[in-house]
Amino acid sequence: MDMKIAVIKGDGIGPEIVSEAMKVLDKVCAVCSHSIEYREVLMGGASIDAFGVPLTEETIEACRNSDAVLMGSIGGDTNTSPWYKLEPSKRPEAGLLGIRKALNLFANLRPAYLYKELSQACPLKKEIADKGFDMLIMRELTGGLYFGERKTVTENGIRKAIDTLTYTEEEIRRIAIKAFEIARKRRGSVISVDKANVLDSSRLWRDVVNSVSKDYPDVKLSHMLVDNCAMQLVKDPSQFDVVLTENMFGDILSDEASMITGSIGMLSSASLNDTKFGLYEPSHGSAPDIAGQNIANPIATILSAAMMLRYTFDLDKEADLIEKAVSDVLSEGFRTSDIYTEGTRKLSCSQMGEEIARRIG
Ligand code: IPM
Ligand code: MG
Repeated sequence: MDMKIAVIKGDGIGPEIVSEAMKVLDKVCAVCSHSIEYREVLMGGASIDAFGVPLTEETIEACRNSDAVLMGSIGGDTNTSPWYKLEPSKRPEAGLLGIRKALNLFANLRPAYLYKELSQACPLKKEIADKGFDMLIMRELTGGLYFGERKTVTENGIRKAIDTLTYTEEEIRRIAIKAFEIARKRRGSVISVDKANVLDSSRLWRDVVNSVSKDYPDVKLSHMLVDNCAMQLVKDPSQFDVVLTENMFGDILSDEASMITGSIGMLSSASLNDTKFGLYEPSHGSAPDIAGQNIANPIATILSAAMMLRYTFDLDKEADLIEKAVSDVLSEGFRTSDIYTEGTRKLSCSQMGEEIARRIG
């Protein structure tokens, strides 16, 4: 297969982790006789430095003309980076939100899985960690508070900020369908998370999800309030299969879910539209505090590349090869510093990429 991939390395640790994912992809392609054409484009802080804006039409077009986008992470230290002196619509994050919207990437899949080998790095009590967990957070990505009207006004000398949370039933229906479809390929359960005891948008959410579920009688649906979900994630994460939720709740819950896997450096993600096109990025940020030191964990990005092979290119066997190589490296005791524990062997970012690539084929 010939694959055309747009690459956004991004800021902070982005260039380091994406280089390792490319190393692993190149190895898979060599072993399985595929070819990849990469086209590197800028977004976020790197784009601000080069063009004065976090996202250009050229970057959007290059992504549109590719089969998929592989991304690192964007943004810098919000306290010290000059990017955060710019108005909000010119900052790095606006580039990420802009590309999600421009490419209609409404479905964000964030799997969180506890590797047996990492149960020591899991911050939960042993009896909870021992049960293991394997969930997928299906986060709505182009609606809600992130894209509602917002403004700051001054009334009678007092500043007032307004953010609006809007969902249409169509926006809810299409993400719910994605959740039920994927639940069918997993353990057949969807827990939809909302705040229906307070918010109108959540009451509509619940109503639409209930009506979509009628087309999926084989999938078990239940509803959970978001505050309870935050609690259940640390009390008994094994109860979750597919977690369906809106944009802001999904942002928060997916960080929590990633932390209980042992490190935020392990969580991959896919952002999909209605076609096979997708943007694949780790769920974590750009970690400017450790950028350029070759100590970041590239696994989330490498697993995101595996998701790309699976969802955009239907290359399940190749995706399995990457996932197996990651779990082999972990079971052989190799770790980056974020998941290092006594008795394991600490690797740099590039060494981790090499070890994973070496185990393919
Ligand atoms: C994420 C990130 C982004 C988000 C930021 C960088 C805008 O936290 O992908 O989870 O909030 O969606
Ligand atoms: Mg986030």
